[in-house]
Amino acid sequence: MEKEIDEKRQGTSLVLQEKEGNTKKLFIESYGCAMNFSDSEIVASILTEQGYNTTQNLEEADLVLVNTCSIRDKAEMTVRKRLEKYNAVKRSINPGMKVGVLGCMAERLKSQFLEEEKIVDMVVGPDAYKDLPNLLKEVEEGRDAINVILSKDETYGDISPVRLNSNGINAFVSITRGCDNMCTFCVVPFTRGRERSREPQSIIEEIQDLWDRGFKEICLLGQNVDSYLWYGGGLKKDYDKATEMQKATAVDFAQLLEMSAKQFPKMRFRFSTSNPQDMHEEVLHVIAKYDNVCNYIHLPVQSGSTRILKEMNRQHTREEYMELIDKIKRIIPGCSISQDMITGFPTETEEDHQDTLSLMEYVQYDFGYMFAYSERPGTLAARKMEDDVPEPVKMRRLQEVVDLQQDISAKRTARFLNQTVEVLIEKESKKSDAHWSGRISENVVTVFPKENYKPGDFVLVKVTDCTSATLIGEAIGYSSMN
Ligand code: SAH
Ligand code: F3S
Repeated sequence: MEKEIDEKRQGTSLVLQEKEGNTKKLFIESYGCAMNFSDSEIVASILTEQGYNTTQNLEEADLVLVNTCSIRDKAEMTVRKRLEKYNAVKRSINPGMKVGVLGCMAERLKSQFLEEEKIVDMVVGPDAYKDLPNLLKEVEEGRDAINVILSKDETYGDISPVRLNSNGINAFVSITRGCDNMCTFCVVPFTRGRERSREPQSIIEEIQDLWDRGFKEICLLGQNVDSYLWYGGGLKKDYDKATEMQKATAVDFAQLLEMSAKQFPKMRFRFSTSNPQDMHEEVLHVIAKYDNVCNYIHLPVQSGSTRILKEMNRQHTREEYMELIDKIKRIIPGCSISQDMITGFPTETEEDHQDTLSLMEYVQYDFGYMFAYSERPGTLAARKMEDDVPEPVKMRRLQEVVDLQQDISAKRTARFLNQTVEVLIEKESKKSDAHWSGRISENVVTVFPKENYKPGDFVLVKVTDCTSATLIGEAIGYSSMN
């Protein structure tokens, strides 16, 4: 269940290989979605060239960077608390330390950040990381620095990210940036700008490099991967203006996924996130056709009520979503499906909430990431709708959704009992140093006794037991993916 790193892996500080001769120390931590963690690897790569090695010790850092999330109020509060902590360290132990804010909060709050939080020296939006060397110069000379310009074409396709805190097996590769969907509750289109796709060749080269270094599983990353479209550069919304030649040679997500799967048959591929309105049938056929493309689709729906979906500006009805689910189940039997759900969106009634619960029953999601609605300043919902569902009602509905998902997940996990599954070993099990932990194609975590296997091996495992979210079994041999 690695999609939203969010509350679970929040605040991981990152370790980087030392580059000889670098003397300055960078402490960088990331909050929020996988894209932020991936961006921090790009930032670390840029700063390595500026003389920085990373440290996990705040007290010795010359530069502290925090990559921030604005998706819910709570995410922003967490960052504010971290700034207090930096402040305390700066005042008591490390007066020379400089602090920069990156990511979505930087973009949302802009110069307001410099006014509100005296500790902050530098504010850098998600498209401005290549400007870091200039901004740092400003800071070193004692001036505050800010760049929050959103770009039409920045994809960082030419930067090879350093892999921070990596297990050497799983890696994210970003393929699109920004989002054009304008869901009325969501701050992302404002903080990450308009949607643009990265050149396929640079994606393939990054995968090749990861393969050469022994990585075994890639997650292709974007706010809305199914909307991927490369036609020679530029914004997705300007595709209409492309030449006939550009259109004829354009590459969409199904093609990109197929290219990747074909070229790297022993590498496993996942992708995140899909938006129902943009998911095309061809993608489903690619998943079905290639064993190395995982049988797992994260397909956020947000609500089971057509009326609420309309208020959210999601471009599909409940029924259309159900048809898509039917199609997935027909084309990829056994495919795992997960959801994002929001409870207590403005005007949500008890009946709408019941529609959400019944949709969950219908789909039988394997996992879910569920949230109470949090009003975000500047979004259409904040401007046009009153946040009128009382907090206790939001929370009660959230609990009902979480409880139902738990029941469904337990049933879904149990379907693998007594089956043989293929596990890619990722790391040692948290609970036992005698067991490996990995995931199956359907994204379920599986643990089994280590024997002579090692991380990075694809192993066939006979499932003998399970909890609601984890399979337990015994290895019976290597799979043909090795
Ligand atoms: N397409 C993105 C979605 C980003 S936001 C992706 O790559 O995952 C992740 C999830 O956060 C959304 O699907 C939604 O369920 C939730 N979310 C977004 N805005 C929210 C808000 N204002 N309040 C509560 N949850 C929200
Ligand atoms: Fe946000 Fe909707 Fe895009 S949830 S990231 S505006 S698809």
